[in-house]
Amino acid sequence: LAGDQVLVVSNREPYIHVKADQGTVVHRPASGLVTAVEPVMRACSGTWIAHGSGSADRETVDRDDRVGVPPQKPEYNLRRIWLTAEEEQGYYYGFANEGFWPLCHNAHVRPIFRSSDWQQYRKINQRFADAVVKEARTDDPVVLVQDYHFALLPKMIRQRLPKATIITFWHIPWPNPESFGICPWREELLQGMLGSTILGFHTPFHCKNFLETVDRYLETRIEHESSTIFHGGQLTMVENYPISIQWPPEWQGTLPPVEQTRAEILAELGLPDDHLLGIGVDRMDYTKGILERFSAVERMLEQHPELVGRFSFIQIAAPSRSVLEEYHAFEQRVHRLTERINQRFPGAVILKAEHHEPDQVNRYYRASDVCMVTSLHDGMNLVAKEFVAARDDERGVLVLSQFTGAANELHEALVVNPYHVEQTAEALYQGLTMPEYEQRERMRSMRALVQDFNVYRWAGRMLLDAARVRQREKLAAR
Ligand code: G6P
Repeated sequence: LAGDQVLVVSNREPYIHVKADQGTVVHRPASGLVTAVEPVMRACSGTWIAHGSGSADRETVDRDDRVGVPPQKPEYNLRRIWLTAEEEQGYYYGFANEGFWPLCHNAHVRPIFRSSDWQQYRKINQRFADAVVKEARTDDPVVLVQDYHFALLPKMIRQRLPKATIITFWHIPWPNPESFGICPWREELLQGMLGSTILGFHTPFHCKNFLETVDRYLETRIEHESSTIFHGGQLTMVENYPISIQWPPEWQGTLPPVEQTRAEILAELGLPDDHLLGIGVDRMDYTKGILERFSAVERMLEQHPELVGRFSFIQIAAPSRSVLEEYHAFEQRVHRLTERINQRFPGAVILKAEHHEPDQVNRYYRASDVCMVTSLHDGMNLVAKEFVAARDDERGVLVLSQFTGAANELHEALVVNPYHVEQTAEALYQGLTMPEYEQRERMRSMRALVQDFNVYRWAGRMLLDAARVRQREKLAAR
């Protein structure tokens, strides 16, 4: 694909300019998607089209709504799309996050489908399609469409740029046909996605669910051998591409030793040197199993009273989608449970319900004995991989939910069912008391895997598959 133009489309932008007392500050959002796609974009210097959501975003773009990023040393263009409050409400909060998100995650939250949200979702997908066409310098760009905000976009782009190579990556799980079938606009959504040349999911299981869903609701021909769908004269390849993180990490070799960071963090928290620390890093989202995790912490302390007052669990929870009732109520529950546990076991849970920049998060990963990822359902979960990457000292234990894509790869984690409080509590205890040689052995294997299957490999495999399809199409057109 050398020389071809690469365009990325996602809802969330990689850099958010925000007005602050000191002028304008730049935030990096808490988003697994952004974490993964950003290093790829920097490597191929294309154009990233996304919603301009920051309070100072408009002041930082040029006449064509573009800004070079990263701000300190621009390597690619960010093209911002503006949405009114009403559009954001319908397309993003409404259909994407009250409908699609719970539809795809088994977290027992009922999806809400409003026709008015759906109209906005369609309209905004069309607006992003227009932007893709405008940004395209040739009639056959490579377009990387990201996630559940843009199910209709592939077909909309295909209608205007029939020769484009459209790679759509779905960052969240894909449900089984029965679950998906409750969506009132299921056929249109599936047809939209089938505008893609390649459709990627994190796991073979999500691919299988998708093929079965298409088989159930559309008139198509599916070739299972090659995992290809033929629909309306278009061919879509469905494949699994487990997402990952940058390796080597950006900060490699620049950080103070783990012991120093640990001592600093314990001092900041006013805790003694031999205090044990657990860490959780999530958006404040009901799919992440934060309540289940806290219950496991409580149960562990009940069962191992010798650790009371000697262990704290730090939870970083970035505010997320908090205008939605479901998220607001969830946040209240997290605060209430924290208070209740801390009344019984003072200092057991340290809740930091605010945004942290990546370097801050990294300090906590490095200072902790155990990292807990207990999602009830998660496409991949990059926190698990970030924790592993952060531990160049080969210490620390990962407790990992079996309902994450990451559990397919990180077999040396302590894999748990987060709904099973006793099991999760036991895994936490096992992590806190694990001999050093075993920590090293497990961490070394996990680090080798993330190093090998890093984000460049994720993108590389997709782009290579795309190049093959392009070549085949060119030959067929001769
Ligand atoms: C998940 C989604 C991403 C999204 C991220 C953060 O990882 O798959 O598309 O960007 O959550 O959520 P937000 O709604 O803040 O973008």
